[in-house]
Amino acid sequence: MLLFPTILTAALAATGMAAAIPSRDDTTANKGTASLLQVRNPSFEFRHGPLALAKAYQKFGAPMPEDLRAAIARFRQNQKRTTGTIATDPEKHDVEYLTPISVGTPSQDLVVDFDTGSSDLWVFSTEMSTSDIKGQTVYDPNNSSTSEKVQGSTWKITYGDGSSSSGDVYLDTVTIGNLTVPSQAVEAAKKVSSEFTDDSHNDGLLGLGFSAINAVEPTPQNTFFDNIKGSLDAPLFTVDLKHGTPGSFNFGYIDPAAYIGNISWTPVDSSQGYWGFTSPGYAVGTGAFRNHSISGIADTGTTLLLLPKSVVSAYYKEIQGAQYDSDQGGYIFPCSPTPPDFVFGVNKGIVTVPGDMVSYAPADSANQNCFGGIQTDTGIGFSIFGDVALKTSFVVFDAGGLQLGWAAKNL
Ligand SMILES: *[C@@H]1O[C@H](CO)[C@@H](O)[C@H](O)[C@H]1NC(C)=O
Ligand SMILES: *[C@@H]1O[C@H](CO)[C@@H](O)[C@H](O)[C@H]1NC(C)=O
Ligand SMILES: *[C@@H]1O[C@H](CO)[C@@H](O)[C@H](O)[C@H]1NC(C)=O
Ligand SMILES: *[C@@H]1O[C@H](CO)[C@@H](O)[C@H](O)[C@H]1NC(C)=O
Ligand SMILES: *[C@@H]1O[C@H](CO)[C@@H](O)[C@H](O)[C@H]1NC(C)=O
Repeated sequence: MLLFPTILTAALAATGMAAAIPSRDDTTANKGTASLLQVRNPSFEFRHGPLALAKAYQKFGAPMPEDLRAAIARFRQNQKRTTGTIATDPEKHDVEYLTPISVGTPSQDLVVDFDTGSSDLWVFSTEMSTSDIKGQTVYDPNNSSTSEKVQGSTWKITYGDGSSSSGDVYLDTVTIGNLTVPSQAVEAAKKVSSEFTDDSHNDGLLGLGFSAINAVEPTPQNTFFDNIKGSLDAPLFTVDLKHGTPGSFNFGYIDPAAYIGNISWTPVDSSQGYWGFTSPGYAVGTGAFRNHSISGIADTGTTLLLLPKSVVSAYYKEIQGAQYDSDQGGYIFPCSPTPPDFVFGVNKGIVTVPGDMVSYAPADSANQNCFGGIQTDTGIGFSIFGDVALKTSFVVFDAGGLQLGWAAKNL
C-alpha cells in the first residue's frame, strides 16, 4: 500500500477503506482488473432534447407528462412526413457510445450499452425473427461450444409505452477486457422493442445495477459485475464518461491519474436495485449552497440530469429568457450566453456541471434556443443523475463499501 498516492490514501482513510481499494500503481494490482474504452455508435445521428427526456420515462415505466407525449407525437408525425417512413426516427439512435464484449467459444464480439440503471445482460440473438434485426451482430448459442440453455428460464423487460423485449436464457462465457465469467447468464432476445431494432449497431445491454432487479424468471440471475466482483482486486468499477468523445469503464481498481482532488464518498441505497444516493443540496453558478435533499440514482443509461421540479425551476430562474416550453415538454433557454454552472452536493463535496454542458441540444432550427440537459423528474419517483452529471466527474461504483465516489477530473 506504500505506493498509494497521498491524495487517494487521505480520501480513503477517512472512510476506513484504504486497505480495500488498490490503485493501479499498486504492484499487487493487475490480476483482477480491466479497462474498457467505449466506441462511438456509428448509427447515432443527432441529439434531440424531448426524445432524450422521453427515453427516461420509457425506461423507468413512468407515465410521460402530457406536453412531452404531445411533443414526441408531433415529432414522429413530422418525421413521417419528411421521410415517408419512421424508420429513420433518431430516437432509435440515441445511444451515443457503446462498449465491446465477447460471448461464447469461439468468442462472438458484440457491442452493447453499459447501463448502471438496469441489471440484465441481454443481446440480439439467432432466435429473433430476421425482420427485427437491422444490422446488429447476433449471439448464436448454437455456435458456442460453451453455451448451455437454462431450461425453463425466460426474461421480459417492459417499457413505458407497453412495448417490450423478451427471450430465453443461456449460461455462457462472457469476457469484457481481460475479465472472464465462464458461466454468465446471457439473455438471448427472441423479441425486441422497435427502439432497439432501429439502432443498428447496438447489439444489446449490459446492466451494472444490482442483481435483485434482474428480470429472469423464475430465478433471477447475477449481473456480470456481481459474478466477477469477488475476483477483482477491489469489488468496484469506475465510470469516466466524456463530453463528445468515448469514455471508459475500469473494473477492479481506481486509476489515480483519472481524477483530481479528493473523491467525495456517499452511501448507496440499493434497496430499489439501483445505485441510489442522496445529495444534500445544490447551488446555481456562484450562488450560495441551498440545503435540499435530493434522492436519485447514478444512471449511465439515461442521457439527461433529471431533478425535482423546485430545483429545476430555481436553476432556470437564474437564466434570462429561460422558460418551460410546453411545445417541447421541457425547459429551453437562449443558447448564448453560456448559462450558469449547476452545482450539486455529494456528502461534503460538490460536483459542478459546467454551464456549457447544460446545453443539451438545439431546440429550434435557428439554433437560438437550447434544450436543457437539466429537466424535471416529475412522475419518475426519484431523480436521475444521468450522463449530463456523470460526464463532469470520475465516478466510483463501490459494491464493497456500498458507496459512490465522485471526483473532479480535467474536462
Ligand atoms: C488486464 O487489463 C488491465 C488493464 O487493461 C491490466 O492492467 C492487467 O495487467 C491485465 N491483466 C492481465 C492478467 O492480463
Ligand atoms: C440451434 O440449432 C437447432 C438445430 O439446427 C435449431 O433447432 C435451433 O433453433 C437453433 N437455436 C438457435 C438459438 O439458433
Ligand atoms: C456460426 O458459425 C459459422 C461457422 O463458423 C459462421 O459461418 C456463422 O456466421 C455463424 N453464425 C453466427 C450467427 O454467428
Ligand atoms: C483532500 O483531503 C485532505 C484530507 O482530508 C485535505 O487535507 C485536502 O485539503 C483535500 N484536498 C482537496 C483538494 O480538497
Ligand atoms: C445546511 O446544512 C448544513 C449541514 O447539515 C448546516 O451546517 C447548515 O447550517 C445548513 N444551512 C441552512 C441555511 O440551513
